[in-house]
Parts: sequence; structure tokens; C-alpha cells
Amino acid sequence: MCGIVGYVGPKSTLDVLLGGLRRLEYRGYDSAGVSVISAAGLETRKKAGKLDNLVGEIDSHPLPAAHIGIGHTRWATHGAPTDGNAHPHLGGSALKLSLIHNGIIENFAELKAELVADGVSFSSETDSEVAAHHIAREYEKSGDLVAAFRFVMNRLHGAFTILVIHEDQPDVVLAARRNAPLVIGLGDGENFLGSDVAAFVEYTKRAVSVGQDEIVVLKADSVTVYGFDGQPVSFDEFSVDWDASAASKGGWSSFMAKEIADQPQAVGDTLMGRLSADGVVTLPEMSGLSAADIKALDRIIIVACGTASYAGDIAKYGIEKWSRIPVQVELSHEFRYRSPIVTPNTLVVAISQSGETMDTLMATRYAKELGAKVLAICNTQGATLARESDAVIYTHAGPEVAVASTKALTAQITAGYLLGLFLGQVRGVVPASELKALGLDLLKMPARVAEVLEGLDVASDLGAAMANAKSILFLGRNVGFPVAMEGALKLKELAYIHAEGFAAGELKHGPIALIEEGQPVIVIVPSPRDAESLQPKVISNIQEIRARGAKVIAIAEEGDPNVADYAEHVIYVPQTEPMFAAILTVIPLQAFAMALSTAKGLDVDQPRNLAKSVTVE
Ligand code: G6P
Repeated sequence: MCGIVGYVGPKSTLDVLLGGLRRLEYRGYDSAGVSVISAAGLETRKKAGKLDNLVGEIDSHPLPAAHIGIGHTRWATHGAPTDGNAHPHLGGSALKLSLIHNGIIENFAELKAELVADGVSFSSETDSEVAAHHIAREYEKSGDLVAAFRFVMNRLHGAFTILVIHEDQPDVVLAARRNAPLVIGLGDGENFLGSDVAAFVEYTKRAVSVGQDEIVVLKADSVTVYGFDGQPVSFDEFSVDWDASAASKGGWSSFMAKEIADQPQAVGDTLMGRLSADGVVTLPEMSGLSAADIKALDRIIIVACGTASYAGDIAKYGIEKWSRIPVQVELSHEFRYRSPIVTPNTLVVAISQSGETMDTLMATRYAKELGAKVLAICNTQGATLARESDAVIYTHAGPEVAVASTKALTAQITAGYLLGLFLGQVRGVVPASELKALGLDLLKMPARVAEVLEGLDVASDLGAAMANAKSILFLGRNVGFPVAMEGALKLKELAYIHAEGFAAGELKHGPIALIEEGQPVIVIVPSPRDAESLQPKVISNIQEIRARGAKVIAIAEEGDPNVADYAEHVIYVPQTEPMFAAILTVIPLQAFAMALSTAKGLDVDQPRNLAKSVTVE
């Protein structure tokens, strides 16, 4: 969390910084700030609250034209979200150094005690300010800014991306990275730094992902990277495949609305090149695992957090059915701190939109230590997770800016299905013809998602009409169960009301006690077409809750004759293979939560207390 941007070059630095912060604001929006160096020296503006507050502050106290600067948008860890705790933080006897930080400096108390003993006074409660003073003091002693920066970076414990500028060295931005993201944007006579490529994709598609424990010396016409040991490090460029326009709202009322609408493309792009016209899956990303390796797999453990974990829960049904490999889905932070059974034949699949979620990174590092192979399903090129995994299946959802995940989820589910079908093909335990038929059905998914979008008004109208609801429950069974949990999570995130998703079969074991007159319940109804359909059981559950006063909204497939009589409202989605239905049934729940939140007058893109990319444990 926290977004970081740095720039050196001929453009208006303020425009580059504010534009970058606008695109990184999803990472945190407790405060924002910038520092620039002009002919008159270092100047800083910072303000608690969203970026617009900073823009207002700069309007009333304008900054001079400058060609170097750094900017920060904060998700508070150490210290409340106040003006004083906002970054940048200044350091040194004449406060000529400016620093921004993403992460947590774990040994800050000890480092602060040294400064306090020397009579340094602090203007914030942050751990970050401590680093600013230490670097400035080392520089004052040696006159070598890079050496001073490196010396202090080696003293810090924890997670950090740090950017520094100094008034005495007005042509260089220094940056360092440990356990937090940092990407360089390479320009022509200008260079950029960002927490992710969204910070600079408007200006350049040439990017470099900075490695662990590396330092960047960024000038307008040169970029040098060193290890924390001072040795130069070579780096590889990659080309960003996101379009700058994809990171803007493009006329939509919110990023979330746009990202919901992007889903046919996100699903289609994730399938592209991986599913042939005759339904066969090719995953060149998996070439590191031979057919013998895949046949020898003893289990798959999916690790993820939040919405990404529900993608894992959904994919599990398909992977197990088609490959006959046991799959367990674990929240990354739970997996990391127990003694999981992992063997060299275990495949750990880490799912993450950002590829920077610290809990998931820690889980994958742990899995590797235990000897597992790690496959990432990730949406962000150059992300730490992608760098640290043995293989990556990129989802091609494009930049997702709204904090509540939508198109990244449907792309993750799609990637999970592709993985399941691929493993099934290699292991040959299910007839190839059956897998091909599923592949052919999956090819139709982008068109079906587009159809769901055309009918979203029903879900949106229902959401808007329920702005006063205090609690909404969700029920589902089989692949509908994780969909129910995701529907509830969306509502908690966006509308701040009590919401819970239950396995429909579990209802009678406790949750039914929650049902009272007027309780809204959204039920994801399985298809009746499946020979082993669970629909009759779910319809019984609906009858049980209606008998106790529940008001039921059902999500059912088109043409289902059985549901209308048992629900106040039915939202229909197109027919598909029942295993794939989750991609379609989850979309009305996204629209429902968005509409309910909007009707309450809340900000759907930036819900309170949350950040999109949680880079602390
Ligand atoms: C945060 C976000 C969620 C997201 C989760 C995992 O909690 O608020 O929307 O699902 O992180 O993020 P990832 O980037 O790992 O998919």
C-alpha cells in the first residue's frame, strides 16, 4: 500500500507526479504529498485525505516549475492520517532531504532512539521520518549521497520502497527496494519511478522491475542499479502491455463501473492464445513442468487473499474434477504460519491481481523453502510475485484501479479453469473429448459475459432499492458457494453493511437462526440441467428460509422454469456448462453492491479503510 512516484526530466514535474498519484491512489488515500526541487530549492506540499485535498493545497500555495520530484499517496501504518504524518518527510539539519516510503521499518524505534539521543527533533509519528534523518546525517558527514543512502538502507529492517531527493543534488532521485514494489519507467531524456507501471504508462511503455535489495540512481539521461552491497546490477527491460487509456475512467461514473464493463475483454484476453478453436488448452507458461512432473503431482495448494481466494475456491472444483489432483485453497496468511504438508510434488498456485500482496508473497516464499514449485496467476507485469515464482500465468485484465476487484476476479477464474483443463489434458484421467467440449464452451464465455452486462439493470435497481438494508445474506452451493462469499465481501467492502455468504447446505446447521421477517437473502441457484444438479436441494433451502420470512433474490440460468415461484425477484444469466457458471453469476452481485453503495452516497472506487494492494502482513 502507499503509492510512490518519482520523476526527473524536462516535463512539468508536478503534472507527472499528480498524474501518477491519481493512477496510484487505489493503493491508499489517507494523505498525499509531493516534493520538487527548483532553482529556489526543495519545496514540499502535503495534505491529509484524498489527492484532491493536495491539489487544493497546491492551488492555494503554488509550487515553482521543476524538473525533478517525488510524490506519495498513503495508506497509514505508523501514525494517524494527518497532515504531519503525510509524506514526504524531510531530514537533515537544514531539512534539505525529502523522502517517501512505502512499507514498515521494523527497527525504527532503535534508529529513532539514536537520533533522539543526538537531539534530533521530529515532526511526525512515522517510522519513515527516521530514515530521512539518518540518510541526511550520513550525507552531511561524507558528502556522498549514494553512499549515505546505501549505508542507511543496509541498516533498515522490514519492508520498504524508499525514494529520496536532496536539494544539493538536484539532478538525481535515489530509490531502494526491499519487500515492497518498485518499477522504473525508461524515457528519452527522462526517467520515472513508480510502485507499478500505472504511474508512468502514459509516458513510456519501457519498464524495468527493480529486484530485491537493489538501489536505483535515476537521472534524466541515465539509470544505474546497484545491489545493497554496492555492486552494479544489470537489468532487463520489459514492454508494458497496458494501454494508458485503460487506466482512466473513460467516461464511466467510476473505475468500478468501467471495470465491470471491461469483463468480456478481460476474460477474452485471458483465454487468447491459450485455447484453440477446437477446445484444446495450451499453456506455454507451464513448460517448466514436464508431463511426468504433472503426472507426479500429489496435491495443489492455492494461496491467495480476499477476492483472489474466492477465485481459487471456484477454480478448485474444476481442477479436481478434471485432473483428479487434490486441491486445497488457503488464505495466504494462514498457510504461512502453520506446518502445511508440502512435498517436492506439491504445486502451490498463488493468485494475486497485484502480485504485491505481502501475505501471498510470504506464503509463496515459504512454499518454496518447503520445496514446492510455485505457479503465479497474476495480473501485473513485473510484480514481485511474478518475479519470484517458477512460472506465471498472466491474467490479461488490464489495470484494475477500483479497490473492489471485479474484472481481475473473472480473469483469475478463467485462468484457473484453463489450468484445470490443461492439467486434465496432461493427466488423461478424464476423456479428452469431454475436456474439449468444456474448452469449446469456455470459448463462448466472453460473449456470455457481455450478455450478462446487457441485463445488469435488474441487479442494479435491486441494489439501489436496498440502500437501507442493515444485513444481506448470500447462499450458494458447489461453485455457487464461493460466489456467495464474494457477493458478501463486495457488499461489506462497498456498502459497509453486514453481509455473509453461506454454503446453502450449512444453513440448517446454524445460519438459519439469522432469518427473520424481511431478511433479504440472495441465492445463487445451480443449473437444473446437470444430471447431478443440486438444484432441488437449494430450492428446498429457499422454501425453508421463505417460511421464516426471508425475501429472496435468486440468480438463476435463463430458461430455468423452477425458480420464479420461489423468489421475490429472479436475475437470469445465460446458460453455460454448470462448472463455469460462477463467472456469470458473480457479475450481478458486483453490480448489486455497486448500486447499493452508490445509493448510500459512498465512494465505490475508494471504500473507507481499505487499500487495493496490501503490502504489509
Ligand atoms: C486487498 C484488496 C482486495 C483484494 C486483496 C488481494 O484486500 O482490498 O480487493 O482481493 O487485497 O489482492 P491481490 O492483489 O493479491 O489480488
